[in-house]
Amino acid sequence: MRGVELVRSVGISTYVQQQKAELGKQTKHVRDFSVFDFSYIPDQPVVRRECRELIDEMLRFDISGIGTHMSIIGSRGSGKTLMLKHLQRVVPKQTSLEFVYANCRHHNTSFKILAHLLGEKPRGASLPEYYEQFLARCPGKTVVVLDEIDLMSSKDRNREILYLLSRSEQPFMVVMLSNSPQVLKQLDAATRSSLQPMPLHFRNYDAGQIQDILKQRAQLGLKEWDDGMLAEIAALTTRMTNADARVAIKTLKYSATRPRDDTKACFERARRDIVIDMVNDLSDANLTILWAAATSKSDLAKEIYKRYCRFSRDHQEKPFSYVHFYANLSYLQSVGLVALVATKVGRTYTNRVILTADPRTVDQLATLRFG
Ligand SMILES: Nc1ncnc2c1ncn2[C@@H]1O[C@H](COP(=O)(O)OP(=O)(O)OP(=O)(O)O)[C@@H](O)[C@H]1O
Ligand SMILES: [Mg+2]
Repeated sequence: MRGVELVRSVGISTYVQQQKAELGKQTKHVRDFSVFDFSYIPDQPVVRRECRELIDEMLRFDISGIGTHMSIIGSRGSGKTLMLKHLQRVVPKQTSLEFVYANCRHHNTSFKILAHLLGEKPRGASLPEYYEQFLARCPGKTVVVLDEIDLMSSKDRNREILYLLSRSEQPFMVVMLSNSPQVLKQLDAATRSSLQPMPLHFRNYDAGQIQDILKQRAQLGLKEWDDGMLAEIAALTTRMTNADARVAIKTLKYSATRPRDDTKACFERARRDIVIDMVNDLSDANLTILWAAATSKSDLAKEIYKRYCRFSRDHQEKPFSYVHFYANLSYLQSVGLVALVATKVGRTYTNRVILTADPRTVDQLATLRFG
């Protein structure tokens, strides 16, 4: 007997009692659920080697007052946000540096970022006014972390805040986090030349590093676990995703709370959840492009572009130019939702767009958003 039938047959009260006991049994190995939350910051993150370079630049900034701006690039779940949030906890205690942090997904223009850093609602003042207030608020050596900088709105294509901070007489060190190097290419020449960010690549984790991350979560969150299972999750994660630590952590959580499912089933479930989160987080334009790729008969980028244009016009939206459309496809590639493969058709080279997500899921999520 399944679902509602079961509840009907035993009655709600009995069902609650039985199901509570059952779930209690299933989760008996869990000591602390909070360590499986993606916003959880462990006291001692597993250290990756690129970390040292970043810390050393911060210490040089502390001593000299001259900040080297940095652009940290790494694929999804490579620990960028975690590492900067951890350094924000640790570094100011031992130096004279201040840290401020903004996520450009939630504050997607220079104006909104400054308002957020000032703790204000983004209205009422102008950008120069907010900037003056910000300078007054942060007179000392300040590390400005701009997370998910690639998600700033196209309305602020020049990312004015970068220009302002890089030209400031006050000591700032800007640290930008993103999935792809594309963002640096999009900056206008004036900003690029005064910012001159130093790129730092967070390499994808290998299976050993993912296993260390899992072991740490297991020690903190579980009463018992099997090291062989941690190794299996780490191997699946590095082989079948871009070593996304989120997928690994969620698989571990499912393995601990769904004892009837094997590791592979938990991994597939975790991966599907993460893809759904990722697709739901896309802007309308990017979701339209992904939908066009998921439902097009042809996988050639030019054909997908035509389908995307038709859909946009049908929904009274002005479609992007092909160049802008292609930049968005590159973004979808950088977050791991599609792969672009160069191919020769006739005499010219073009790109095939290979979806890594399930096309039916993409279609369903687009229907939910656009109707
Ligand atoms: N070195 C690490 N030690 C412990 N936990 C880690 C480490 N790296 C990543 N994690 C965990 O993996 C998850 C994903 O990490 P994080 O959010 O920092 O990735 P990200 O690189 O910012 O990804 P995105 O590009 O999607 O923003 C988080 O729950 C984080 O706590
Ligand atoms: Mg992040």
